[in-house]
Amino acid sequence: MNVDELVTAARAAAENSYSPYSRFRVGAVVVGENGEVVSGANVENAAYPSGSCAEASAINAAASNGIRKILTVAVACIDAPDVDGAYPCGDCRQIMSEFDVEQVIVTAGVGSEVREHSLDEILPYRFNL
Ligand code: THU
Repeated sequence: MNVDELVTAARAAAENSYSPYSRFRVGAVVVGENGEVVSGANVENAAYPSGSCAEASAINAAASNGIRKILTVAVACIDAPDVDGAYPCGDCRQIMSEFDVEQVIVTAGVGSEVREHSLDEILPYRFNL
């Protein structure tokens, strides 16, 4: 999938967001090293800390299906005012690190800017064992 297709898929994944508390719909698409594509959305919970970010949902689904190396994560927050409000949280950046994500594509709703980053760019001096 090219960048445009990944962005479209991430925005579509955001439509499945379960976010009755924040009303902030986020979707993510993961590309594994063999081209596998796995999507996820944020899933909130009445006990707020029990919720999951979209990136964590997608990455954990991919890992649960045997994927161990992730090339790209595309994330779209379709209720963010613009791309600056759509960046992955720190926790999700660390989760990306675990599966050696190389490229992070960030965007907001249809028509908004699309930015491409390396994980090193958005998570410098990362923790790793
Ligand atoms: N959220 C994500 O899904 N990804 C992020 O990187 C940032 C935040 C979700 C969590 C929660 O459901 C909502 O956005 C508001 O924080």
